[in-house]
Amino acid sequence: MSKYVFPENFVWGTATSSYQIEGAANEDGRGESIWDRFSKTPGKVNDGSNGDVACDHYHRYRDDVALMKDLGVRAYRFSVAWPRVLPKGRGATNAAGLDFYERLVDTLLAAGIEPYLTLYHWDLPQALQDEGGWANRATAEAFAAYADVVSKRLGDRVKKWITHNEPWCAALLSNQIGIHAPGLRDYRAALSVSHHLLLSHGLAVPVLRQNSPGAEVGITLNFAPTFPASRSAADLDAARHHDGYFNRWFLDPLFGRHYPADMIADYIEAGHLPPEGFTDVRPGDLKIIAAPCDFLGVNYYNRTVTRSDKVPEEENLPRTVHVAPRSEWTDMEWEVYPDALRQLLTRLHLEYGPAKLYVTENGASYSDGPDAEGRVRDERRTRFLRDHFVAARRAMDAGVPLAGYFVWSLLDNFEWERGYTQRFGIVWVDYTTQKRIPKDSALWYRGVIAANAVDE
Ligand code: NOJ
Repeated sequence: MSKYVFPENFVWGTATSSYQIEGAANEDGRGESIWDRFSKTPGKVNDGSNGDVACDHYHRYRDDVALMKDLGVRAYRFSVAWPRVLPKGRGATNAAGLDFYERLVDTLLAAGIEPYLTLYHWDLPQALQDEGGWANRATAEAFAAYADVVSKRLGDRVKKWITHNEPWCAALLSNQIGIHAPGLRDYRAALSVSHHLLLSHGLAVPVLRQNSPGAEVGITLNFAPTFPASRSAADLDAARHHDGYFNRWFLDPLFGRHYPADMIADYIEAGHLPPEGFTDVRPGDLKIIAAPCDFLGVNYYNRTVTRSDKVPEEENLPRTVHVAPRSEWTDMEWEVYPDALRQLLTRLHLEYGPAKLYVTENGASYSDGPDAEGRVRDERRTRFLRDHFVAARRAMDAGVPLAGYFVWSLLDNFEWERGYTQRFGIVWVDYTTQKRIPKDSALWYRGVIAANAVDE
């Protein structure tokens, strides 16, 4: 048995997001978000559910913080619902919304848990969508104003800020593939969205620095470490394209390298951008986007293996194939492949060199529920987390400045287009009674945190 010890100040945390757990969708002046609208549109969420109640965290946040304290969790990554704070997206603030996040932050601090606050985890105010959403450049300005409101109120206590969560999802999954809100299938609009998301990040960074002196500011991207299915030139090119589409499109401008030229060329060729190129980018934008950050947040779940065939209904997306028949899969049908996390962290360190990294999300959907004694024996989740922690530790051995790790998720919750059919929590949620039961993985995680080490 090997023991993997972590550095003394390593930040062990859990993560959630507002729409996925809060509920109270129509309380205390919260405005409508694009996820309220989308989830109530028939056929969009596979079990017909929505986030109206979710985990009722809005009312139960004290218990949830107590649960984290009991597990010994040192940090909690959550998101603020923009429409709770600014029901119309801009203009009048909603005092009750800000009060809620202030209570949450104060409760966390009193419990010795450091808040990591994400400003945008996909619940855009519907009023802004009605004006074109992120495809409209003005939404980037509105985001900076929203960042100002939240950080003016909480900037004295919150010292870790994440502007965006997974802009690939907010741009492409939502506006090109169309399975997330607002559900568009318009490649060109999706690319505009990607630019305005990044621009809004860059506009918010100095605002956060101003309102929260000494804070660390960063952004969280989701990554698909990409492997070619074979060494054929066509498969290698498919891998290049997929890596560009998913990873480099966001990384490169954030690290001062402009949008990747090979991708601009591919998009022009495919008609996703006009022949003149990426015309949404105005002079000065790239400098704003490349505002130096204190850390990069990494969400990692699985890898992608690409081959060159095109999938007809998903235009221009290389087909992903599963080349490892003996692999394990989670209930999301995502391959379990921990070593790609080590490779990803190492690549990010060597090729982009962020000052610091956090794994801001990693976890697994497994349906295991309470047995006759009320115990949740989710051994597969424990194994999944252990193997990924070890992969991260190995990356640190290779010099990666990884400062912390947030397990997705604290609670079972609303998994977007999959509704409540997927359970990522280390804590079981009974959606009828709202009872929480820490699963075996949570108890195991408590031991990891206490020992600051993983046994393999
Ligand atoms: C990433 C997203 O940030 C989160 O909202 C989602 O639940 C998990 N992935 C699992 O799909």
